[in-house]
Amino acid sequence: MRAHEAGWAHAEGARRPTWLQVPGDVNALVPHLWSATTRKVDGVLEVGGVRVTDLVAEHGSPAYVLDEVDFRQRAAAFRDAFADYDVFYAGKAFLCTTVARWVAEEDLHLDVCSAGELTVALAAGFDPARIGYHGNNKTVPELARAVEVGVGRIVVDSFVEIERLAELAARADREVGVMVRVTAGVEAHTHEYIATAHEDQKFGFSITSGDALEAVRRVLAAAPVEGSGGLRLLGLHSHIGSQIFDSAGFEVAARRVLALHATVLRELGVEMPEMDLGGGFGIAYTTQDDPSTPARLAEEMTAIVDYECRALGLTAPRLSIEPGRAIVGPSMCTVYEVGTVKEVALDGGARRTYVSVDGGMSDNIRTALYDADYSCTVANRSSEAPPVLGRIVGKHCEAGDIVVKDEFVPADLRPGDLVAVPGTGAYCRSMASNYNHALRPPVIAVRDGVSRVVVRRETEDDLLRTDVGWSSPSQETDGTAADPAVAGR
Ligand SMILES: Cc1ncc(COP(=O)(O)O)c(C=O)c1O
Repeated sequence: MRAHEAGWAHAEGARRPTWLQVPGDVNALVPHLWSATTRKVDGVLEVGGVRVTDLVAEHGSPAYVLDEVDFRQRAAAFRDAFADYDVFYAGKAFLCTTVARWVAEEDLHLDVCSAGELTVALAAGFDPARIGYHGNNKTVPELARAVEVGVGRIVVDSFVEIERLAELAARADREVGVMVRVTAGVEAHTHEYIATAHEDQKFGFSITSGDALEAVRRVLAAAPVEGSGGLRLLGLHSHIGSQIFDSAGFEVAARRVLALHATVLRELGVEMPEMDLGGGFGIAYTTQDDPSTPARLAEEMTAIVDYECRALGLTAPRLSIEPGRAIVGPSMCTVYEVGTVKEVALDGGARRTYVSVDGGMSDNIRTALYDADYSCTVANRSSEAPPVLGRIVGKHCEAGDIVVKDEFVPADLRPGDLVAVPGTGAYCRSMASNYNHALRPPVIAVRDGVSRVVVRRETEDDLLRTDVGWSSPSQETDGTAADPAVAGR
C-alpha cells in the first residue's frame, strides 16, 4: 500500500510519539544507534577517526559515511556466532565492489537477487561458488549467466523457473545447486508476526497448498544423470520478513519448513543436506528499538531447529542465514547540510521545527515507503540551546519527503549546520533514486583516520548520459552525437 501523499504530516496529533523522550543533553549520542567508532569530539561527529566536517568540506553533502571497522565487526560477529552455519551477506541491503571484498575477506558468502548485484559481485572478484542467487522472476539470460559463471546456489521460485533452469543446466552440462523457496505462512515485521494458512504474496512455493513439495519433486526429477548436467537439490529456503526482533516468527517458520523437510525424506526418500532460514534481523533506528545480538540469535535459532529435528527424528541439515540490514545498517550514517529552518504551529498551541536538508527521499526512501523511524544529531557543533521537537525533511517535491519524522533538535539549529542520521546503511543507497534529477550521494568509507570514496557522487553528466537527446562535448568532437531527428530537437 502506498503511504498517504503527505503521510503522518497530515495525520492526527502530529506531536512527538510516546517513545521519544526529551533528551537531557541534545548534543549527546545514543551509542547503540551509531557505528562502533562514532563519537563526538568538541561537538563534532567523528567516524573512523575522521571528522564529518572535514568529509563534507572535501566531498560535499549529502554523503553516506561507511564505518569499515563496524561493518567488519558485525560481519565477523555473525560469522563467529553462526560458526556451524553458512552466513550469506544479503547484498540487496547495500553492495559495491569494496563491500563485496570485505564480505569475502570476512569469510562470508553473498546473496544477490539481480543481474546487477551479480555483476558487482563478480567485478569484485567474489567467488561465484559462494554466491546464492534469489529472485521471483530471473530471466532466462540471467539464469544462463548464473549457470555459466558457476553460482553456488540458485533459489528457485516458480515451476517455470525450475523448467528453464533444468534446461540450461542440461545444455551447459553443469550441475547446478538449487534451493526451493517456500512460503511458510509466516509474515514477520518488528515485534509482530502473523501465521496464516494461506500465503498471499509473490515469493516462494506454498507449503500448505502442496506446491512446495511438488517443486521439490520437479527439482529432483531434473537431477543429473550419469555425469550429465542437471539440478542438485540442496534444500528448502524460507525468509519471513524484515526488521524482526523476536524469534517467535522464526520458530513457527522453522517448524513448518522442517515438517516439509521430513515429508520429503519420508515420501521421496531424499534427505536434503541444507536449509536456509533467510534474513530479517532487526537493528536499532531509534531508542524504541532493542535488537538482539548475533550470539543470542544463533543460540535461539539453533535450539529451535535442534528441538524440531529431534521431534521429527531428523538429522539437522546444514543451516544458512542471510543477514543484510543487521550487518550494514548500523555501519553507515548520512550527513546532510541544513538549508532552511521553519517553525510550524500545530493544533493546540504546539510547534514543530521543520529542518530542510540537501537530500531526502532520493537518498532515503524508507521513511516515505515504510513509515520508518530514524533519529539524528547535529554533527558540526554542540549547542547550549534547549531541545525543540523537529522534523528533518528533504528538498523534493513531495510533502511526504521526510527523513526523520520526530527528533529533538537544538532550538538554535540554523542553515549551514550539519545533521547526521544513523542507521542508513541498509536499503538507503541501494534504493536511492534520481527523483527530481537528484544526484545520488557518494559512499565514503572511513577507517583509522583515513577516508576513501567507494562510490562516487553522481554528476550532471551521469544524469544526462542515458538521455539520447543530449550529446556530451566528447560525443560532439568524436562525431557520435545523438541523431537530432531521433532526439526530437
Ligand atoms: C530472501 C531474502 N534474504 C535476505 C534478506 C535480507 O533481509 P535483511 O536485510 O532484513 O536481513 C531479504 C530481504 O528482503 C530477502 O528477501
